[in-house]
Amino acid sequence: MKISLSILDFDFSNLANELEPLYPYIDYLHMDVMDGNFVPNLSFGVPIIKSLRKQTKVLFDTHLMITNPKDFINDFANAGSDLITFHYESNSDVLQTIKAIKAKNKQVGLSIKPNTELGVIKPYLEHLDLVLVMSVEPGFGGQKFMTSVIDKLRSLKELQKEYDFKIFVDGGINLDTISEVKDLCDTVIVGSCIAKSTDRINTLLDLKR
Ligand code: DX5
Ligand code: ZN
Repeated sequence: MKISLSILDFDFSNLANELEPLYPYIDYLHMDVMDGNFVPNLSFGVPIIKSLRKQTKVLFDTHLMITNPKDFINDFANAGSDLITFHYESNSDVLQTIKAIKAKNKQVGLSIKPNTELGVIKPYLEHLDLVLVMSVEPGFGGQKFMTSVIDKLRSLKELQKEYDFKIFVDGGINLDTISEVKDLCDTVIVGSCIAKSTDRINTLLDLKR
């Protein structure tokens, strides 16, 4: 089980210092990019990713919650993303966006919101490195894990027998809910559970355990 740490709920005025001690304990840094259009919230974009890129070699897992993701692939690839995930529900053509990400030699992910049926992404599985299953409505950190996604994860896991992709789960993961997904995914995204912890390193270790 790998851990991707979402920076969304950290102190942005002190981001580099807050993250530095955590790099040895995580597999990816998860960048939640929100445009106030695809989701009802604004977060950050290229400048933050570019700045952090100078600080660490940890893999950057960029989660685009934006309209027209295809138009921004080059920007986020050049900023230093290693994995780029966009939403099936966005308005960009899925295959063309996958191609744009591959053209930049980045790993490609497709994400689905909690109420989106798994079947719609089946035609794309052969092209994907990962599927990111949202276990909260995208837009905000600190929301409650939706157990309704468990069945979707089970079906997705079955599909790993046919296709070579990884399963990422995003939203509401903490020391209680991780047990529900641990056998059904390859990577969990964690945000507020670490940001709010008084002992972040130990909480990361506890999650791994
Ligand atoms: C939600 C984001 C998530 C979120 C994770 O739109 O995609 O990555 O920040 O945060 P927690 O772990 O607090 O749900
Ligand atoms: Zn995310």
